Amino acid sequence: MNILILGSGGREHAFAWKLSQSPKCTNLYIAPGNAGTSAFGTNIAVSPTDFNAVKKIVLLHQVTMVVVGPEDPLVKGIHNFFINDEELKQVAVIGPQADGAQLEGSKDFSKQFMFRHKIPTAQYQTFTKETLNEGLAFLETLSPPYVLKADGLAAGKGVIIPTTLAEAKKELSEMLANAKFGNASSKVVIEEFLKGIELSVFVLTDGNSYKILPAAKDYKRIGEEDTGLNTGGMGAISPVPFADEAFIKKVEDRVIIPTINGLKQEGITYKGFIFIGLMNVNGNPQVIEYNVRMGDPETEVVIPRIKSDLLDLFSGVACGNLNEKTFEVDNRFACTVMLVSGGYPEDYEKGKVITGLETTRESLVFHAGTSETKDSKSEIVTNGGRVIAITSYGDTMDEALVKSFANAERINYEGKYYRKDIGKDLKKYFEKE
Ligand code: AMP
Ligand code: GLY
Repeated sequence: MNILILGSGGREHAFAWKLSQSPKCTNLYIAPGNAGTSAFGTNIAVSPTDFNAVKKIVLLHQVTMVVVGPEDPLVKGIHNFFINDEELKQVAVIGPQADGAQLEGSKDFSKQFMFRHKIPTAQYQTFTKETLNEGLAFLETLSPPYVLKADGLAAGKGVIIPTTLAEAKKELSEMLANAKFGNASSKVVIEEFLKGIELSVFVLTDGNSYKILPAAKDYKRIGEEDTGLNTGGMGAISPVPFADEAFIKKVEDRVIIPTINGLKQEGITYKGFIFIGLMNVNGNPQVIEYNVRMGDPETEVVIPRIKSDLLDLFSGVACGNLNEKTFEVDNRFACTVMLVSGGYPEDYEKGKVITGLETTRESLVFHAGTSETKDSKSEIVTNGGRVIAITSYGDTMDEALVKSFANAERINYEGKYYRKDIGKDLKKYFEKE
């Protein structure tokens, strides 16, 4: 089977690593990929949102499965593009069609969906430019902190949590009246602030049956002790110690089953991943958001913990027989530490030469923002804010982290930064045992 992975991050490197292990995988292509994915397949310099260029690759290389990494092409309807094209309609696409992708593409849609299907989530109201004054008045009825969310995709930057009423009012006005996030903030969801500890649960579904993948905890802020600006994610841990069997059962009964059934009831055929961002509020799950793809860097710990053949699972998604597929999870911990560029998530420079990659031991090194220089395939340079995710296994979380942190020191480039406190907040859960 020839497979095309769309995307260029650590998530796609982890997919390439795992899919290439399948005996059913013949040729692997990654568009556009990075310096890490080229070890497992052929990188092709095409953007995942250029559907006609993607079509050319698929036809030229007789690709029969396309795995869509990021949300953008899904929200823009890449799966629909395939279904509606005579030459592409037989090709399996892992990822929902545009209707299902609205779960991530529109916060207002996803909140309405959750309320329709009685899925636990924060109370909210949605406002537009025309109802800005009502929005400002609504803020006065809430207590701080305030949660303001741009309705559409805003590259992970669309959620603002001001701590004062004045700031919240200013932000709301900027989002609605001044289009702070362009079209994405033509609607703004204001919601109740949930207090608890966050985790992510991932589901793979063929639209009927589903597999619950290992849960993970992400570290979103740039600074240690969860300070500073939000990033795409600075590290991840799986399993999550406070998400025990009883908690995951609550997530399954209260969130996963109603979500799958809700999609079916609404006539939405959903084939792909559902990433459920949750707040554990006193032992009860509340949904913060849905994403219609895997998380990054969560993929770099979730995929390594899946023992089963991922390609076989994807075939089950495409053929609608996921329930017949075996699904086994590695009990060990997997922890990842993300190396980023100096300055990230604000301005940063690219093109810094990366050294020491060959000196790493006992870890999986997933490239996120890297590229090969034009003149030399062996010279790898930084090409993004998040550069490399270092994943390690361990019988304990600490054992895994020690390996990742040691390798974080072995890899070097100008401006390298990483959080040295990944997992620190979880230690208390192990001490209790
Ligand atoms: P999102 O893009 O929806 O994941 O939001 C970004 C981050 O904002 C989340 O990871 C949470 O940390 C935080 N957040 C979003 N919604 C809420 C909420 N209702 N209460 C508390 N924190 C929230
Ligand atoms: N790490 C969070 C995300 O992928 O959205």
